[in-house]
Order: sequence, then structure tokens, then C-alpha cells
Amino acid sequence: MNLSKIFAPTSLLVTGGAGFIGSNFVRSFIESHPDVRVTVLDALTYAGNLENLANLESRFSFVKADICDAEAVRKALADHAVDAVVHFAAESHVDRSILGPMIFTQTNVLGTHVMLEESRRHGVARFVHVSTDEVYGSLGPEGAFTEQSPIDPTSPYAASKAASDLVVQAYAKTFGFPAIITRCSNNYGPWQFPEKLIPLMLINAMNDKALPVYGDGMNVRDWIHTRDHSAAVLAVLSRGMPGEVYNVGSSNEWPNIEIVKLILRTLGKPESLITYVKDRPAHDRRYAIDSSKIERELGWKAMIPFDEGIAETIAWYRANERWWQRVMSGEYLEYYERQYGKR
Ligand code: NAD
Ligand code: TYD
Repeated sequence: MNLSKIFAPTSLLVTGGAGFIGSNFVRSFIESHPDVRVTVLDALTYAGNLENLANLESRFSFVKADICDAEAVRKALADHAVDAVVHFAAESHVDRSILGPMIFTQTNVLGTHVMLEESRRHGVARFVHVSTDEVYGSLGPEGAFTEQSPIDPTSPYAASKAASDLVVQAYAKTFGFPAIITRCSNNYGPWQFPEKLIPLMLINAMNDKALPVYGDGMNVRDWIHTRDHSAAVLAVLSRGMPGEVYNVGSSNEWPNIEIVKLILRTLGKPESLITYVKDRPAHDRRYAIDSSKIERELGWKAMIPFDEGIAETIAWYRANERWWQRVMSGEYLEYYERQYGKR
């Protein structure tokens, strides 16, 4: 590794830092970089929860703003003398993108464009755009996505992420803007909003409620612990090549039904809770990621074995019922007022 090529930020802006992956990233970044200034910019949508960053409040600045609001983004970059951006903020749930697609184009495409343009004008030295393997569409039974796989999104969510990736690449090519893209597979871990497969199934099982499995349950996802994803984003921020794309995964493919059965076994609940429901429209059959580029070029590798990571995640949801009860009732939205309302 050539140490002269390592980029060391002095003031980092994290968009979407109150969401699932963003908050896990902020937590580990603050622990490993106590001298770097950190600013979280988040609109606190239904998915953004400052309780995810509880006990760290003194370690970062918080800006409540929409990434589509150019003036607010400009002010945040200037006020905090930002020299690097990690961009997580997005609408992130496929099912919501089927129910209401327009906000996905608004936030993920327009919002990302605003982030790029304001960061370029401000002179940001690194911009990591956190994207997804879903931009590649669906795989058959063999093979894995590489960075050369065609962009072929299926859902409005994936299409909006793909469109944002193209704008990022255009900025890198046209303006020499130092942006880098990561495309990661499905994340699991603590603080995930209970609308995604693993927390939804966990909470339903704990409450003896039906577990709604889409279609035949044989769609395959490649699961990675969010801390491994955070480490990959950090590797890309500090050692990635501007203009490049890095796939991130942990070669851990599971049919959905097997994940659901694993959760039931761990909780000691009966398989009779499984309920097959109507399939998701245009449901991608299989995702699998080839991470050899980031492993070879940046020395990153997923470290958390799935059996350990999933056991820890299940234990976390069992121990943190108050967190998910507040998320599900909407009570967590009051936290912002209590914590920041009078500041
Ligand atoms: P999330 O839905 O948990 O969090 C999204 C965050 O963005 C929330 O804090 C929300 O308040 C914020 N946000 C939404 N719209 C905003 C706006 N207009 N302005 C400012 N903030 C806004 O999402 P996540 O699962 O943590 O995903 C984070 C990023 O990682 C996304 O870009 C997603 O596409 C990508 N990604 C997710 C996964 C996954 O498995 N969850 C996998 C690969 C990539
Ligand atoms: P999800 O967590 O929404 O992630 P993504 O669609 O981005 O991969 O879903 C993961 C898989 O689980 C996907 O194949 C859809 C399936 N699924 C269900 O079968 N039932 C559910 O209630 C949910 C939310 C997902």
C-alpha cells in the first residue's frame, strides 16, 4: 500500500447519518477518528432516527436538512469547512418505491445531484457515493455482479440509484470531481428500520405474528454485516481511486426462506408462523457480489462470519425492544424535539 496515496479528511459530512447504515458508519468512524470533525446532515424522514446515535451527541454536529435544498447543503459545507462527504441519504426501500415512486427520483437523483454540485463548488476533496448492487438488476442461478456488469435496474428504487450513479460518474469524468462509488449487497445488523426483511421477520416472530414471505421464498440475497460495509466505505474514502466503482459483499448467499427459518429456530418459534404472500412485482431473483476488486486494490475484506453477525443482530433486537417499539409507534420522532428543539 502506497501511504502517500492515503486521503485523510479533516472535516467529514455524512448525509443520511441518522439512518441504519449511516449511523453505524458514524459510530465506527467517530471511534476510529477522534480528531476528525464530523457533521451529520439528515432530513429525519421516517427512516432517520437520532436515537441511533444516542450517547454520541457531543461528538458530532447535526444539521437537519433535505439534500434537495441546495442552500442548506451549501451552508452546511461552508459552516463546517467540510473537505470530504460520505453520501448515504436516500429513500432505500424497494416496496415503498413501488407504492410511491416519485420521492425516490426526487431524493435519490435530484438530491444526489444537489450534493454533487454543491460539493464541487465548495471544493470537496473526496465524495463517496454509497450505492447498491440493485443497480445491476437480477442474476440467474450462476455468477456474480462485477463492476463491469451492465446497469439494468428493475424497481423504481434501483432505477433511481442507477440514475444517481450515472450523474456521479458524469461529474467525475466531466469536472474531474473526486467522487467514488460503492455498490454493496444487502446489509443486516442493529438499528435497521423494521421494514426490511430481517428486522421485520424478527419482530413479527417475537410477537407471534405471521411472517409474510414473498412468492416462493427462493429469492436469494447476499447478506453483509453493516459494520463490514462501514469498513469498506472507510477504505474507499481513504484509499479509493477517484472516478472508480467498488463492489462490496461478503459471498454469503441465502434464499429468503432459509433466513426466515433461521430466525424462527433461534427464537424458538414455530415454522407455522410462515405465511407465503403474493410476490413483489418484478421481484429480483438473485443478487451476488464479486468483491475481488476492493479486496485486491484496497485490502478490504468482510470479516464478520454470518453465524456470529446474525446471532448478535437477533440478540440486539431482543435486548432493544424499547428502540423498535418507539420506531414502530412513531414515538422516536419526538426525540429530535427533546434533544435539539431548544438549541
Ligand atoms: P435508511 O432508509 O435506513 O436511511 C436513510 C437515511 O437518509 C435516513 O436517515 C433518512 O432520514 C435520510 N434521508 C432520506 N431522505 C433524505 C433527504 N431528502 N435529505 C436528507 N436525508 C434524507 O437507509 P440505509 O439502509 O441506511 O441505506 C443507506 C444508503 O445505503 C442508501 O443510499 C442505500 O441506497 C444504500 N444501500 C443500502 C443497502 C441496504 O441493505 N440497506 C445496501 C446497499 C446500499
Ligand atoms: P428487503 O429487505 O426489502 O431488501 P431488497 O428488496 O432491497 O433486497 O427484502 C429482502 C428480500 O426479502 C427480498 O427478496 C424481498 C423479501 N421480503 C419478503 O419476502 N417479505 C417481506 O416482508 C420483505 C420486507 C422482504
